[in-house]
Amino acid sequence: MKPSNIQSRPAHIAHRTRPFQESVIREMTRLGDESGAVNLSQGLPDMEPPQEVLEAALQAIRSGDNQYTFPFGSPEFRAAIAQKYASYNAIHADPDTDITVTCGVSEAIIAVILALTEPGDEVILFEPWYENYVPGCLMAGVSPRFVSLHEPDYMFDPDELRSAFNQKTRLVIINTPHNPTGRVFSLQELEAIASLCREFGVIAVTDEIYEYILFEGRRHISIGSLESMADRTVTISGLGKSYAVTGWRIGWTVACPALSLPIRKVHDYLTVCAPAPFQTAGITALSLPETYYVQMREKYLTGRTILLDALTAAGFTFRQPEGAYYVMADFSSLNWDQKKYYRPEWSLDRNFAEFIARDIGVAVVPGSSFYISGIQGSNSVRFNFAKKEETLREAARRLLHFNPS
Ligand SMILES: Cc1ncc(COP(=O)(O)O)c(C=O)c1O
Repeated sequence: MKPSNIQSRPAHIAHRTRPFQESVIREMTRLGDESGAVNLSQGLPDMEPPQEVLEAALQAIRSGDNQYTFPFGSPEFRAAIAQKYASYNAIHADPDTDITVTCGVSEAIIAVILALTEPGDEVILFEPWYENYVPGCLMAGVSPRFVSLHEPDYMFDPDELRSAFNQKTRLVIINTPHNPTGRVFSLQELEAIASLCREFGVIAVTDEIYEYILFEGRRHISIGSLESMADRTVTISGLGKSYAVTGWRIGWTVACPALSLPIRKVHDYLTVCAPAPFQTAGITALSLPETYYVQMREKYLTGRTILLDALTAAGFTFRQPEGAYYVMADFSSLNWDQKKYYRPEWSLDRNFAEFIARDIGVAVVPGSSFYISGIQGSNSVRFNFAKKEETLREAARRLLHFNPS
């Protein structure tokens, strides 16, 4: 923009935007691109989406699905979502009243926080957390309250969880399988959370975007399927990760009518509706046979093996992920030049992320960006293994630099 000589007062910037920064994950993708690194930072898969799902999207565009749908989603897509919940999640959802299709899980989370909290309320988050939960809380004027998933197992302490609940608590946000740790919450853990939700009248908001990405035969359990949780749970998922279409921006919420109604109102005024042709293609995605999910898990398992072997050889330590496609890896034992790109305002892990992107050629996400203190997680970085075998083998080759022997 051209500089102007006309004097004017600076524009006001809303206070609600001040406590949070631009996404660190997307900043790391930019750093990776700039330094020619293999991008294992942002959580986007580089494999092809299923061919029939791509065809369904093209067909939908050609045959006229190019206008607004109902704000809460096309009836056919909601019916397909309801069917999936009955067969995979043991949740009965009425497509007319209980399902709201959103622009990705990200919008769903923010719409739910805006719809179900008042300024001054509290929302419980497990720490480390996926990065849009905190800005979502802050934009709604609610205070996040953190409960640690303790290293090395990333389990929570039930007493700590109980002490986070109080009269101001409105929501507890769960994410299973979990980004960034790869934890899959057990039935016992979910029962403990559910019991506190019942006692304190709190809504469980559960982000299950990685629900199909599970290893070693683990089972996905939706907290909304537990006894008397149907009326106090908002279950959220989407197409992005399960079908490698993160750019399509299709997510949804499943909740009883009393909770869905305000979510639908907020969603309508935020975005009107999710992209119409991709809702239609979503019907094809949700009707893929079980073999699709078996093969997908096998692909991710191969990716996990390649990456974890390379990390072990390079000297990282980590807890093997049980689900999702990330691993938090501790770099404390590695030899690296801490002075090379040093900036005093950066944490150790941010410095390490710069080093590994520029000198090793692998882009990662600094571990501390998943914590509020900026101190926890600062010996770790997050790697994403949702990549083609050749991409991961190239990353593995580059990581050998840490251990040339
Ligand atoms: C836990 C979690 N929730 C939500 C999202 C974003 O989902 P969407 O692309 O559907 O907005 C991500 C993306 O990485 C994620 O890891």
